[in-house]
Amino acid sequence: MAQQPDQELGQVLVVIPTYNERDNIGKIVKRLHTALPDVHVLVVDDGSPDGTGQLADEMAAADDRVHVMHRTEKAGLGAAYVAGFQWALDRNYGVICEMDADGSHAPEQLHRLLDALPQADLVLGSRWVPGGEVVNWPTQRKLLSLGGSLYSRLALGANIRDMTGGYRAFRADTLRKLNLASVASAGYCFQIDLLWRTLELGFRVREVPITFLEREFGESKMSGNIVREALIRVTKWGLRRRGNQVKDLFTGKRK
Ligand code: GDD
Ligand code: MN
Repeated sequence: MAQQPDQELGQVLVVIPTYNERDNIGKIVKRLHTALPDVHVLVVDDGSPDGTGQLADEMAAADDRVHVMHRTEKAGLGAAYVAGFQWALDRNYGVICEMDADGSHAPEQLHRLLDALPQADLVLGSRWVPGGEVVNWPTQRKLLSLGGSLYSRLALGANIRDMTGGYRAFRADTLRKLNLASVASAGYCFQIDLLWRTLELGFRVREVPITFLEREFGESKMSGNIVREALIRVTKWGLRRRGNQVKDLFTGKRK
């Protein structure tokens, strides 16, 4: 089982955004370090009222591999990740991963993503490729995820099955090219946004199967606003893409 995907890729950091995950954060970090003792963790907490941030501080005080970033208000998953990625790039981590705090992304499967990174610039943990699955999701949520991925695929012309998943491993060099400062997607649309930027730059994106297990404790932060933001933005990116194709047709760039 590889802990470092490749000596040249460098130190691995797993960024875990949290909002009210007090019952989950200790368990997930423990599982991660049992599976992969050398990886570092950055918890990005948005001032959780349930004290997740303080608990993370206690964990960090007892373990050099654990770091915490405190943000003052709940500003969305996307904003938390952008801040965490920036922190990681400033500290020269070589591989930067995304993982949910609630146990939906099994730390025991992280090696699948890391093992694929030597042949890719971004690896996606995918629920919708053969071998991937979702356990304990209501049909409605499954349809929303499948529908969201399908719509994004069609609008953006991307050959990716799971466009919205949040279990990922980036090479730091990939993230450096994505112009993180300009990412405005606040919610889960952030996942599509970063994937789309990566694909547009011609980077190699690979999907590896994962088992996504619905959380046992706490609540999903998914909301109507998060879905609306994704729908509006993906439609806009898709239309821009079509517009560029038409422009290329007229200016002769495309045969
Ligand atoms: N810091 C911070 N701020 N963390 C947040 C916020 C926020 O505003 N909103 C959510 N999180 C954290 C949660 O605490 C959890 O660790 C992780 O982000 C995912 O949130 P969930 O609320 O558990 O998401 P989900 O299970 O509904 O959605 C999952 O599936 C989506 C669709 O496939 C995630 O993997 C999403 O990333 C994914 O897009
Ligand atoms: Mn979840």
